[in-house]
Amino acid sequence: MGDVSAKDPSMLVHSAEPYNAAPPLASLRASPITPIPLFFVRNHGTVPVVDPAPYRLAVTGLVDRELRLSLESLRREFVPSTVTATLQCAGNRRRELHAVRPIEGEIPWDAAAVGTAVWTGASLAEVLRAAGVRGAGRHVLFVGLDAVAADAHGFGGSVPLEKATSPEVLLAYEMNGSPLPPVHGFPLRVVVPGYIGARSVKWLRSVAVAAAPSENYFQAHAYKLFPPSVRAHTADWNAGVTLTGPPVSAVICAPRQGQRLRAGHLSTTGYAFAGGRQIARVEVSADGGVHWETARLVGDAHPWAWRFWEASLRLRPGRQEIVVRAEDSGGAGQPADPAAVWNFKGYVNNAWHRVTVEVE
Ligand code: MTE
Repeated sequence: MGDVSAKDPSMLVHSAEPYNAAPPLASLRASPITPIPLFFVRNHGTVPVVDPAPYRLAVTGLVDRELRLSLESLRREFVPSTVTATLQCAGNRRRELHAVRPIEGEIPWDAAAVGTAVWTGASLAEVLRAAGVRGAGRHVLFVGLDAVAADAHGFGGSVPLEKATSPEVLLAYEMNGSPLPPVHGFPLRVVVPGYIGARSVKWLRSVAVAAAPSENYFQAHAYKLFPPSVRAHTADWNAGVTLTGPPVSAVICAPRQGQRLRAGHLSTTGYAFAGGRQIARVEVSADGGVHWETARLVGDAHPWAWRFWEASLRLRPGRQEIVVRAEDSGGAGQPADPAAVWNFKGYVNNAWHRVTVEVE
């Protein structure tokens, strides 16, 4: 199970094996860089134990020179790059979709399957330059060392070559200034800022340049988006849209669902994230979405990270619904109703986030 003991005792564990856990929502707001003990974990298989000394990363496929890189050579031969990036699971906020219509066989994540870390590693673009990408190369495929039931080759995925060679994409060996912990991919993971978490493959075994996207189950089958009308048994997997970046979404971290509060002014806080785009505006409502106030965006804006927000609301006595919504720098907003974005796998829910409180 890796170093699960290093996780905070407050983590909400969805499954012990494979270990899948997220922090209480309110804890996310404690720091713009999520402490490792509170960083969510999404594993499809058992955490592999990797001996760092004989470890080699294979760089193969449509390249002029195949490489087998030790950790030592990744650190020594490539200038270390650092990026502050938010990882968000495509299943974040699935619980709200599940309430619309049940979603079978998937983890019912609340809104805390997300976290932000400072990642350090070798630039994937530099490593690919060292290997020499051949002209027919269009995609970069990743495979992990973990055994998973769904695919005999292990967990994998791919990103277009253009994204893979963007400067923010790293082969990361450090998280928040420490070596990657086992549950987060020790000794090496790819970090693809702005894409769903699934593409940031942990315990990286190989990087391969290819003409077509990965055939791995987690790229060709799972992590695809379908319209609300499609069900698991009617899905044509080839017709699904391959998920890239998560859409803009804002979440209330405090107060929490069902909390009892006194009438008057209430400070409400949360996060907003829009993948590779910036958060342009966050709005909060204390009356279920009739009247809206603009929230303050707090802290620094990092190009690949979430943005914290806060607002002071005036609460009237009774049961009140607090709602938040955001708009990104591309002008995209959020739908009011989760039914509009329901999909049978429960991915990328970005409906307005709502919290009901009892005001005395
Ligand atoms: N990489 C491997 N090898 N195996 C996995 O199960 N899960 C993916 C991704 N990389 C996964 C993986 C998913 S779905 C997510 S959301 C992120 O890792 C989660 O990263 P974390 O556990 O470090 O938070």
